[in-house]
Amino acid sequence: MHDGQSITTIEGLAAGENLHPVQTAFVERDGFQCGYCTSGQICSAIGMLAESRQGMPSYVTEDLMRAEAELTDVEIRERMSGNVCRCAAYPNIVAAIKQAAGIPT
Ligand code: FES
Repeated sequence: MHDGQSITTIEGLAAGENLHPVQTAFVERDGFQCGYCTSGQICSAIGMLAESRQGMPSYVTEDLMRAEAELTDVEIRERMSGNVCRCAAYPNIVAAIKQAAGIPT
């Protein structure tokens, strides 16, 4: 399906010793416990932040006329809803995403 397209994995996010801002936020906000789901959570967070910036709505976006969806906790949870965390680190994952997006928590 993605023949000829560029795919970035968790290993390709950091620039040498410098973590991607979402990776840094996950560390600073304790966005993980065992780490089993963390690669997927971080990659999905980066993708959903990009989609939000491009104005793509989710099922819970209230104002479809806005150029960029307001990233409320509900909006973030919906956009991340395909990622299951058996440690239930969800509150910290939301906090990490908000920090990476520059939203006060
Ligand atoms: S941090 Fe353990 S499964 Fe998510």
